[in-house]
Amino acid sequence: MYALFRPLLFRIDPEVAHLLGTGAARLAQSISPSLVKPLFNFEHPMLEQTLWGRSFPNPVGLAAGFDKNAHLVRFWSKVGFGFTEVGSVSARACEGNPRPRAFRLPADRALINRMGLNNDGAEEIARRLKKLPLESLPPLGINIVKTHDPDILGSGAIVDFRHSFRLLANLAHYIVLNISCPNTREGKTFEDPESLRTLLTAIMADRDEMRLRIPILVKLSPTFSRHVVYDSAIEETIAVAIECGVEGLIANNTAPDRDGLRTAPAELERIGGGGLSGAPLTPRTTRLVQYLYLKTGGSIPIIAVGGIDSPETAYANIRAGASLVQLYTGLVYRGPGVVKKIKRGLVRLLKQDGYAHLRDAIGVDSAMPANPITEDVLETVAA
Ligand code: FNR
Repeated sequence: MYALFRPLLFRIDPEVAHLLGTGAARLAQSISPSLVKPLFNFEHPMLEQTLWGRSFPNPVGLAAGFDKNAHLVRFWSKVGFGFTEVGSVSARACEGNPRPRAFRLPADRALINRMGLNNDGAEEIARRLKKLPLESLPPLGINIVKTHDPDILGSGAIVDFRHSFRLLANLAHYIVLNISCPNTREGKTFEDPESLRTLLTAIMADRDEMRLRIPILVKLSPTFSRHVVYDSAIEETIAVAIECGVEGLIANNTAPDRDGLRTAPAELERIGGGGLSGAPLTPRTTRLVQYLYLKTGGSIPIIAVGGIDSPETAYANIRAGASLVQLYTGLVYRGPGVVKKIKRGLVRLLKQDGYAHLRDAIGVDSAMPANPITEDVLETVAA
């Protein structure tokens, strides 16, 4: 069905197509969400898990950025997602960068975006989320980020993050700190270990003061490029995250480089800057997940995101160490039917390999010394 609409949608600007698609979804959500569900219905006990004390009906989630302003939370569960992440939300509302700011790369099944963290701001989004029956929804994550304003830095950046946390922390089942945006004049991000320590210490103290048990997750940038560039700071970043009590890691955000793309260089030049997402990220995501699983010894759940658009890519990431997967670009190229396809395919792949449940397959490839990707990761780490 989506294959019929796609050529039409792909003729219009990606952001306009997104607004049309989400507009139609809002209409379906308000008329009758039960009209949508039968089309996408597929659940299987092999895919159910309890994480952070919460039941996840399946491991396929919506990635941050697609429903930044939390307009469609009820709709996503009807499409079959096992969990939804809204945001990134910042303390102050933000219009983002001038348009055009989203671009398709069909030859690569990829997107480039420089949206600039456009969102309605924490207060408005909190007001919207308060109207939702949180306890009867599949798990909901809120992704928070520093306001997109270069003048907010240093301790101001921490104050800004805490403001969003305090407004939103009791309205979700998990909170993600999007730490890949610059917070200093030198362009350092919260992935810088000392900045991360300061941020996490403040957020964890707020959580204690609010007497909340909400899990805090951290979303990382891609570390491994196609040419396997290993950034040694990641090791320290992860150590700080674990030390400060982070309960989950998300790998990964969009990539700044243009490594190994089929799209013509002149076209890339025309598009200009922005983060790359979609199929070119697939091997890098799996590598980072495997690396994180090895480093954390599987002690906290990992969410894989980046180039996941099929049962095979989802399964590879689960075998690498992910408990959950998310998608954004896969939804643009394959349509909402991809969610059911991934779930059905996961059951088939698990059975084929003799697993009784998804949890039995998590991290099996990271534990295998003969696995080529693991060796690759270890070599890089040693280098
Ligand atoms: C994103 N992504 C994103 N991530 C995040 O943490 N906060 C955000 O606001 C956004 N916004 C956003 C906008 C657009 C247009 C895209 C394409 C992506 C990143 C997203 O959640 C995901 O990490 C990457 O896109 C990689 O996954 P896919 O797209 O390859 O499945």
